[in-house]
Amino acid sequence: MSEPRIFEGLEGVLVARTELSEVDGACGRLTVRGHPIEALAGGLPFEAMLGLLLDGKLPDAVRLAELVAELGTARARAHAALAPRFAALCSNDAMTTLLSGLATLPNDATSSDALATAAVTTAHWIQTQRGEPLLSPRPELTHALDLLAMANLPAASEAQGKLLDAYLVTVAEHGFNASTFAARVTASTGAALPAAMLAGVATLSGPLHGGAPGPVLDMLDAVGEPERALRYVRAELLAGRRIMGMGHRIYRVRDPRAFVLERALEAFRSHDRSSPRLELARAVETAAEAELSRKYPERAIRANVEFYTALLLEALAIPRPAFTAIFACARLAGYAAHYAEQRRTGRLIRPSALYVGPHSGHP
Ligand code: ACO
Repeated sequence: MSEPRIFEGLEGVLVARTELSEVDGACGRLTVRGHPIEALAGGLPFEAMLGLLLDGKLPDAVRLAELVAELGTARARAHAALAPRFAALCSNDAMTTLLSGLATLPNDATSSDALATAAVTTAHWIQTQRGEPLLSPRPELTHALDLLAMANLPAASEAQGKLLDAYLVTVAEHGFNASTFAARVTASTGAALPAAMLAGVATLSGPLHGGAPGPVLDMLDAVGEPERALRYVRAELLAGRRIMGMGHRIYRVRDPRAFVLERALEAFRSHDRSSPRLELARAVETAAEAELSRKYPERAIRANVEFYTALLLEALAIPRPAFTAIFACARLAGYAAHYAEQRRTGRLIRPSALYVGPHSGHP
């Protein structure tokens, strides 16, 4: 008897209907509730993206102000709840600390509570690493500006807030990626929202998913000069290592989010003292694309969102070990929308596996 077909990694398997986003891997297009990502990023605050995801349409001015206020109040609440226990929570890496923060949420916590807890925890973690005091949130600020302010980043100005907004909007939602799927599986069991958020964030932590941007910068440091890019990439591939920030399960062309983030960085350029970094990154991307095309002519391994995420977060002076936690601060909006959709429309997610272990000899 022939073995049933197994879809390793669930590649190409449709498991649900979703109204949230469409990821077109062949053309390199990302559409969120009908809006191209290029139209959303670079102009809207993160709160508008949250409104789009949760309400189904872009918020008008009144709803936007409501969302800004709701997130601000939730940050104040999260700070009050977390500050007394932060020394204990913070003894770990940023993602584990973020998970610990989310684990303190009660079962009836809202998506704003989860987003606020993530922002406060990540900003406090950055402050603690520097040995500096925790800073109270300022609820009147937008989520992006307050995140920068709470982390006491040297450049928490309008331009920096806009750049962080462009990033948070760009990465808030992206189809059935591994961490969103983990959140949906958890939601499908009827578990509470914080449990689904924890499942999503835990899954995001891996280097093949949300953990790539820190290593992208390590790679740029190791390359040093644009002229050394090709030699470096060849040596890495020869040693059997992956080039971080390159390749994607769905995209067979350059990730559209890489274009959006690269453009946001260019717009920021007059304030951006790290533009030689951009030149170095482009040289590494070009070299990696060329070498990967030679090694995998059938596969098209191009830059993904993490490549330019690394440069953008670096331009904001966010420390590398906090990169994935900042990603989580945005993607939680997507998880929350998927949680609601799964609870509204989904069934218990429960696939099967082909058993290949020993048999007991039962008749
Ligand atoms: N560098 C070198 N080789 C690569 C890369 C890369 N960046 N990406 C894929 N390959 C190779 C693999 O080694 C494998 O080769 P093999 O068949 O000789 O073993 C082949 O391409 C297929 O790789 P898979 O892992 O099966 O392909 P998949 O579609 O699952 O890859 C992934 C997607 C995991 C993102 C991969 O491209 C990768 O590891 N990239 C580097 C890490 C990274 O940047 N992650 C962030 C992704 S974006 C996000 O999650 C937000």
